[in-house]
Parts: sequence; C-alpha cells; structure tokens
Amino acid sequence: MRTAWQACTGRIIAWFQRAEDGLRRQSRQPETLRQWGKSVTERLQPDQDGIARAAELLREGACVAFPTETVYGLGADALNDRAVAGVFAAKDRPTFNPLIAHVANTDAARELVNFNDAAKRLAAAFWPGPLTLVLPMKPGGGVSPLVTAGLDTLAVRIPAHALAQELLSAAGVPVAAPSANPSGRVSPTTADHVLDGLAGRIAAVLDGGPCDVGLESTIIGLSEEPTLLRPGGLPTEAIETCLGTHLKEASQSDAPTAPGQLASHYAPKGRLRLNATAARAGEVLIGFGDVRGNVTLSASGDLTEAAANLFRILRQMDADGVTHIAVAPIPGTGLGRAINDRLHRAAAPRTS
Ligand code: TXA
Ligand code: MG
Repeated sequence: MRTAWQACTGRIIAWFQRAEDGLRRQSRQPETLRQWGKSVTERLQPDQDGIARAAELLREGACVAFPTETVYGLGADALNDRAVAGVFAAKDRPTFNPLIAHVANTDAARELVNFNDAAKRLAAAFWPGPLTLVLPMKPGGGVSPLVTAGLDTLAVRIPAHALAQELLSAAGVPVAAPSANPSGRVSPTTADHVLDGLAGRIAAVLDGGPCDVGLESTIIGLSEEPTLLRPGGLPTEAIETCLGTHLKEASQSDAPTAPGQLASHYAPKGRLRLNATAARAGEVLIGFGDVRGNVTLSASGDLTEAAANLFRILRQMDADGVTHIAVAPIPGTGLGRAINDRLHRAAAPRTS
C-alpha cells in the first residue's frame, strides 16, 4: 500500500499546485467566494424551494452544506474538480484527506465503484444508513482525483436522511462531502454549528434541524479483506454479524489508505483528560451514567444518547471558553467505541 501511496503523492501535489495557481490567477479568494461574490451564506429551508436551490448551487459548482443522519456534510459536485477544491478551501482541510462520495441509491453507487460479495451484503443490510464502503473505483466514472486524493479506491455512502436523499436525487451528481466544519474541529450536528465555522465561506446550508445519530458514519474498507477504517454511527458488531467474520483493524501501517485518520482531528480548543471519575481543580467534567459531571453525555448511560450529544457538548465547551475538560469513562462497546475514538483523537497531542 505504501508504494502505491507514495506513487500517487507526486501526482497529487502537482495537481494541487496547478489548481492553486489557477485559482490564484483568477482571484485571491477561494473559488466558492469568488464565483458567488458572497459574504453571506444562504440558509435554505427544508422545503421544495430550499432543496431546488441547494441542488442548483451544487450543479453550478458551489459548496452547500446539507444534513445527513450522522452529521452535516459540506457537499460539492464530485465530478467537478473546482467544486471539490472549494471544499478543501472552505475547510482548510489537509490536502491528502480523501472525501466520501454521497449518492441517492445503489444504482448510482454502482456507476462509481465495483461491488464484491461483502459489499453487496453490507449495502443490502445497512444502506441507506451511517455506513461508508471503500471500494475499487470504476475507471471512467469521472470522479475528481481530489475526491480520492489520488487513491484507486472510492468511499461511497447513501445517507438515510430524507432531505439528503431528495437533494442527491435533485442534484443528479455524486456529492463529495466531508463533515461541514473547519478542518480539525468537531463535526456539526445543526445548521447553526455549520454557520459557526463556515459562514461566509460556503454558498448555502440546507437547514434540516439536528442530526439523529450525531457521529460520522462507520467506514469499512472492502478492496481487500473487510477492514474497519473508522468506527462510527453503525456499530461494528452489526457489521461483523452481517458478514459472519471479524473485521480486520486498520493498523498504523494502513494509515496511507485512510489518511483522514490524523492523530489529532476531532479537537475542541480545551485540553481533554479521559476516564475521569471526578473533576480536578480548574476542570469541567463531562459525565456519563453514574459519573454525574457538570454536564452529561447521558445520565442514564445510554450510548446512543451520548453519541448524539458528544459534538454539541464539546462545542459548548469551546463556546464557554473551557480550557480543561475531563470526561467520564465510556464503555468500549457498540457506539461507545466510536465515541472513545473521537475522544482519544480530541485528547491527542495537537498537530497545530
Ligand atoms: O458521516 C459521515 O461519514 C460524514 C457525512 C457528511 O457523510 N462525512 C464524513 O466525512 O465524516 P469526512 O471527510 O469527515 O471523513 C471521511 C473519512 C476520512 O477519514 C477519509 O480519510 C476516509 O473517509 N476516506 C475517504 N476515502 C477513502 C479511501 N478511498 N480510502 C480510505 N479512507 C477514505
Ligand atoms: Mg470530519
């Protein structure tokens, strides 16, 4: 994998330099800002007019944030290099993070990637839903290399949110969408969160209210043996039961195939101390179950409730200017695994 990764790195750097030069020649602002001359991001209502406007903007190459059942995504036409570059610009995203292509249905997914047996089984069981499959890309699908960061695999997902489905159908193109937050910050679960981070940097946000799941999708690599690339909104136990086999764990050496797995990615501004049962001096304690805390992920110890609350509470810590955050122990089963994954990343030494 390493060799393949290194081989494509030079190509990507060259591509980015060309793209950046092009943008710089036309304007000092990112493409999304230049073309729509915006200082104001449209907040679109969750009705037919709002969906039609969002789809129109996407087709024109603009960046539009939209709700999914997991978190809000920052969408762009995955076939349009410039539109995808606009996503990286708006987010200040590390260059080599590939993006997930969102489509309305399995037929649309089949135009982009080759399905093997495991993929067919998982798609039938869990799509639409909080599951992303990384599969070998079909040649000639037209997906921008910026979406895959030059890899020969593509991450695809069919979101379950009704508005996302309507938007994807109306847009008629695969929509590349990372979470709609500035890179390295917590993922947004409301339109207000999106605007907090990206107002003035994106064309519009389609306001669908709070997201149900509150954690990003689970990502499974299927181009080789089934591998857990990122725990998320679909518990791995359900996936293993469906496949009748254990998932391989992505190791450090797999990092080039999942370059988004940066050590410090989901980070509030304050420092985090994990597995805390009481607050130390100067700390605010986020509780769970019996550990009460100043605020709690779930007083009843419900992991689904905790997942839905996680990013909102971390954001609240930022909004309140909390510098030292302690977090109660979270069990490592079901969604607890994804919650712990996010918390460990948030607690990791900062890269910036
Ligand atoms: O729930 C979600 O998945 C949300 C919503 C908007 O759908 N999206 C999301 O996207 O979380 P993002 O960009 O924040 O995370 C995508 C992850 C990254 O860690 C990236 O490295 C990984 O997917 N990824 C994308 N394509 C990949 C590929 N070809 N191989 C391995 N990992 C890939
Ligand atoms: Mg993200």
